[in-house]
Amino acid sequence: MLRGTLLYLANRESIRHFVTHNRLARRSSRRFVAGETLEEALQATRTLNQQGCTVSLDHLGENVTDASEAASAASDYIKILDAIKQSSLDANISIKLTALGLDVGGDLCEENVRRVLDRARSYNIFVRVDMEGSAYTERTLELVAKLRQDYDGVGTVIQSYLYRSEKDIESLVASHTRVRLVKGAYKEPAEVAYPRKADVDRSYEQLMRVLLSHGTYPAIATHDVHMIEEARAFATANTIEKSRFEFQMLYGIRRDLQQQLVREGYNMRVYVPYGTQWYPYLTRRLAERPANLIFIASNTFRK
Ligand code: FDA
Repeated sequence: MLRGTLLYLANRESIRHFVTHNRLARRSSRRFVAGETLEEALQATRTLNQQGCTVSLDHLGENVTDASEAASAASDYIKILDAIKQSSLDANISIKLTALGLDVGGDLCEENVRRVLDRARSYNIFVRVDMEGSAYTERTLELVAKLRQDYDGVGTVIQSYLYRSEKDIESLVASHTRVRLVKGAYKEPAEVAYPRKADVDRSYEQLMRVLLSHGTYPAIATHDVHMIEEARAFATANTIEKSRFEFQMLYGIRRDLQQQLVREGYNMRVYVPYGTQWYPYLTRRLAERPANLIFIASNTFRK
C-alpha cells in the first residue's frame, strides 16, 4: 500500500520538479547514486574493485521519446565501455531498453543496442539488459533472444513477482542466457504479479534453485538475508561451487553484507548507477524501504 502510494507520488510532476531542483535532496541522493558524472562513477568502481567487488555500471535514464536522445544514450554507453577498458576496471554495464529507444521504435532500439554490444564484444565486456515494467517484458525477452543469436555476452533480468517468470526462466536456461534474478521494483497489477510479499519471496526461492542448478552463471540479486542464506545453503548442499554464480546488490545498500560475502569468498557485484537522470531510480529505492524516505526528507528539509 505504502509502496504503491510512493511509486504513484513519485510520478507527479510537481514532486519530481521539487526534488530534482532541491540542492539538499540532490546531495542526499548520493547515498544511492554514485554521482552525476562518469568520472565519479569510475571512482566509485575503483573503490569497490579495491574492496573485492566487481561492478555493473548503469548510466541512469529511461523512457526516452526521441530518436536522437536514444542514439546519444547508446553513445554514452560506448564511452563508458571505452573508459572501463582504458582504466582496466573490473566492471560490466547494465542498460535499459527504454533509454535506448524502445518507446520510439523496436528497430531503432535494436540498432542502438547492437552498437553498444559491438563495442562491448570487442572488449569482452558483458552487457545486462535490465528488466523494466511488465509492459516491456515480452519485447525485452524477444529482443534479448534475438541478440543472443549474434552475441554471447548479453543477458537479462527476471523478476520473481511476475507469474510468467517460471516459464521465462525455463527458456532462458535452455538458451544458456545469463539471468539476474530480482524480486521486481515496479508497480504492477494483480493480473500479472503477486500482490503479497510472501508469494514474491516464495517464487524467488524457487526460481533461485532452478538457476543455481541449471542456469549459466546466474546472478542472485537481493539484499534479503534470508534469500542469501537459502542460496548459500542450496549451493553447498548441491556442491555448486562459489565460482558458478554471483551475488549482486545495489550501490549504497547493505555494504556490510557485501563485504561479508566477499570475505567468505563469494563473487559480489555491485550495481552502480550514475548520471543526472537519478529521480525515477531513487523513488524505486524509497518505495522498497520507506525508512529511506526519512533519510532523504531529513536531509532535504534541514536548514
Ligand atoms: P526486500 O525488498 O525484501 O528487502 C530485503 C531487505 O533488504 C530489507 O529488509 C532491507 O534490509 C534491505 N533493502 C531492500 N531494499 C532496500 C533499499 N532500497 N534501501 C535499503 N535497504 C533495502 N528490479 C527490477 O524490476 N528490474 C531490474 O532490472 C533490477 N535490477 C536490479 C539489480 C540489482 C543488482 C539489485 C540488487 C536489484 C535490482 N532490482 C531490479 C531491484 C529489485 O527488484 C528489488 O526491488 C530490490 O532489490 C529490493 O528487493 P530485495 O530483494 O533486496 O528484498
